[in-house]
Amino acid sequence: MLIYPTKSQYLNKFYLSYSANVIDTTMTISTDASLSQQAIITSTTDISHIHKFLGARTPKDWLTAALDNIPLLLQDHANCEKKAAGTAMNLIFRYEFHQDLQLKLAQLIREEMLHYEQVIGIMNERGQAWSHLPAGRYAKGLLKHKRTYEPAAMIDVLIIGAFIEARSCERFAALADVIDDSRLAKYYRYLLKSESRHYEDYLALAASLSDTPIDERVAFFRQAEAELITTVDEEFRFHSGVPVAY
Ligand SMILES: [Fe+2]
Ligand SMILES: [Fe+2]
Repeated sequence: MLIYPTKSQYLNKFYLSYSANVIDTTMTISTDASLSQQAIITSTTDISHIHKFLGARTPKDWLTAALDNIPLLLQDHANCEKKAAGTAMNLIFRYEFHQDLQLKLAQLIREEMLHYEQVIGIMNERGQAWSHLPAGRYAKGLLKHKRTYEPAAMIDVLIIGAFIEARSCERFAALADVIDDSRLAKYYRYLLKSESRHYEDYLALAASLSDTPIDERVAFFRQAEAELITTVDEEFRFHSGVPVAY
């Protein structure tokens, strides 16, 4: 008798095998339960440089809230992937004469849109319908410090991009360590490699396109970012601060 895969099994296999081929051919991703442990081991990425770069680690209470709000976390994760691609696309249009920026961000956009597809696939597997979720305070809280003249505005947006990517990476790693869901743990670990490269690319672009050292601006945004992560936040989101009710 022929047994056809369910739609969710099909999507699962499609997204994971497609992503493994496109993004990282060295990684073992399988939907076969017997291989799940191998997938976790081979997809481990060292993110110690990201822990050093950030001014604060994700608070324990945020992780507790995340485990209690997985559907909301998935919806906001999907939104973040789409926004990451959109922001990079805006930069590509605005700064068309910087070839390195064009190439690095073209790759980043492809990867963010792939992640977007993957998160939608995971939501579909769970029968989770799309819901409108307004953005939290995080990105706005960083962008309000952006200088308004060029090339300073460009440098600030690139540095902010580096912090958002670094924080995403740090949160995926922290979530993967505590979540009691092997599918999501495996997926979050899989994301570490590309998100940590996105952080490195944004920071390298900021340094290479600036006529002056960027250390002072990086230190400024490090403090601003850490404050958003370690202070009380009314709304729970992927990049939110300390949740109120925990
Ligand atoms: Fe992403
Ligand atoms: Fe990213």
